[in-house]
Amino acid sequence: MRADEIHKINRDGWDRRVEEQDTWTCPVSPEDIRRARAGEWSVVLTPNKAVPKNWFGELKGKDVLCLASGGGQQGPILAAAGANVVVFDASARQLAQDEAVSRRDALSLSIEQGFMHDLSAFADGQFDLIFHPVSNCYAPEIRPVWRECYRVLRPGGVLLAGFMNPIVYVFDSEAAEYEQLIVKFPLPYSDIADRPPDVLQRIVERDHTVEFSHTLEEQIGGQLEAGFVLTHMFEDRDHGLPENGRSRYFPTCMATRALKPSAR
Ligand SMILES: C[S@@+](CC[C@H](N)C(=O)[O-])C[C@H]1O[C@@H](n2cnc3c(N)ncnc32)[C@H](O)[C@@H]1O
Repeated sequence: MRADEIHKINRDGWDRRVEEQDTWTCPVSPEDIRRARAGEWSVVLTPNKAVPKNWFGELKGKDVLCLASGGGQQGPILAAAGANVVVFDASARQLAQDEAVSRRDALSLSIEQGFMHDLSAFADGQFDLIFHPVSNCYAPEIRPVWRECYRVLRPGGVLLAGFMNPIVYVFDSEAAEYEQLIVKFPLPYSDIADRPPDVLQRIVERDHTVEFSHTLEEQIGGQLEAGFVLTHMFEDRDHGLPENGRSRYFPTCMATRALKPSAR
């Protein structure tokens, strides 16, 4: 399957997930925005852990790109905390959630639709901070994403990224919803390449989206190759603990803080 076909499946799939009110599509409340305006806020790059405040630095007046981060969640909170935010996402319905919160609460937030590997809508050095929660599992190639992030950040700018621990994809996700951890797939894994057509069809009908594991070399090495310097990282586990089996054994996601150096 061609990359553009994959992007469209995932774009339309996230539109469907908005209709189904998936957790990652439900906007923040007016009370969340009121608290964020008063300085009480937190956001996630991964399912559970709040990103440490010192990863952001001063937010007031900063130009922030929320990358593949639609759904009316992190973008509106960061705008209420004082940033000028652009939310960029493939899904028009996810972006509509951000636009609705922005209008409701009069935030400094705009939206832009597109695919994360192509940030040509933005100028070189346009942003101070990029906030990129777990979403690159929906992109077949991620090195172009890191390169584009580097380009659109100012020198001294910061990239905060969440992504899946690739080991998650070794296990057969069809096996009793993770209660049985059956080792099945060599890495890197791709729903498209590693599933027979009937199973792939079942996955797309159920989840509406397709995923790719990516290696740590692509995730971390890719950021370093793009020119970033890593300054911090943490690991996290799935939503809904302790029911979710795999999170009992290992952290399922991680987050990194990377700096575009002022002079290379
Ligand atoms: C798990 S959600 C992340 C957003 C959410 N606000 C959060 O808290 O994590 C994944 C997002 O990535 C977006 N997405 C998927 N593939 C994309 C792509 N190739 N380019 C841009 N956005 C994409 C989806 O539309 C969806 O909004």
